[in-house]
Amino acid sequence: MSKKKQPNEILPKDLDGEAELDRFLSPEVEEVDDIVEVTLRPRTLKEYIGQNKIKESLQIFIDAAKKRGESLEHSLLYGPPGLGKTTLALIIGNELGVRTKITSGPAIERPGDLAAILTSLETGDVLFIDEIHRLNRIVEEILYPALEDRAIDIMIGKGPGARSMRIELNPFTVIGATTKIGSLSAPLRDRFGTIFNLDFYSKDEISDIIKRSAKILDVKIDKDALEELAGRSRYTPRIANRLLKRTRDYAQVRHDGDITRDIVSDALSMLDVDPLGLDKGDKKLLLALIEKFGGGPVGVETLAASTSEERETIEDVYEPYLLQIGFIERTPRGRKITAKALKYFGKEMPRSKQEKLI
Ligand code: ADE
Repeated sequence: MSKKKQPNEILPKDLDGEAELDRFLSPEVEEVDDIVEVTLRPRTLKEYIGQNKIKESLQIFIDAAKKRGESLEHSLLYGPPGLGKTTLALIIGNELGVRTKITSGPAIERPGDLAAILTSLETGDVLFIDEIHRLNRIVEEILYPALEDRAIDIMIGKGPGARSMRIELNPFTVIGATTKIGSLSAPLRDRFGTIFNLDFYSKDEISDIIKRSAKILDVKIDKDALEELAGRSRYTPRIANRLLKRTRDYAQVRHDGDITRDIVSDALSMLDVDPLGLDKGDKKLLLALIEKFGGGPVGVETLAASTSEERETIEDVYEPYLLQIGFIERTPRGRKITAKALKYFGKEMPRSKQEKLI
């Protein structure tokens, strides 16, 4: 598969699903940040920090596909937003030396949209489908034979004269990404040769990512400042990079441009990002759980209604991190606060609930 590398082609407008412009810590991509974000994105597996097991497997699969001159098997990446699924897909295309086309589940509305994308793919191309769990059922059914038999079946005409026509496709690779593996239908999930689960990064890895980004942005950051910033980044590269950029602004305007621990503290306090990376939204959720629902358990729908948040935002944006740091627990009867979270907020539960807390 020798093809000259071309720039990534971005199909519909959003690079990473719908931007959530109103929430500072949201790991969703914000358009305003895209230009800088793109320059911070690692372009090779070697440059990519963390997710070591995934990198190791990918390197083998990529090398094997290249050796055989075949396209890579279809792969699925899943995990919370902001952990680098898009970045990995772009790296895969880059390492294979092919084009990567980017689209997303909600952007493909009709079967014809997907058919147009699939028939435009050249031999070896990577097609990245972000939020693949949001493909509608009719579009999803077009994808099945595309993944399995490298062909699509399209209906020509309507009514009694309608007939199905099969179109063969060039060899290609779909990289699907989802925050919700459980929302993916089994037939779709089963058509991916490999499934990779991206996990939160360690604090050291986040530190290394910030260090690398600071170098690219040409900003000086000392060791203590790195640690402080890493601690507030929710173990998430996209948030780490965003906080670094906001701190850089603050350092440039209020100081001489270099970043110290105090500058990180001041800049992020101004933005209501606390030392654990919790923002107003997290606090509203946790305090509702404690004060309105006696610590829970409470169903996510009830919690959503009482905090005026979307259920999806709670599940995709707030919860993964709050679970990770052990501030909430998911039980069959709903979400529950933990003793650790109560301690952090200096709160106590009513006596009747105390013994039930972990
Ligand atoms: N920027 C965003 N994610 C990254 C990663 N995993 N490694 C290096 N730089 C990154």
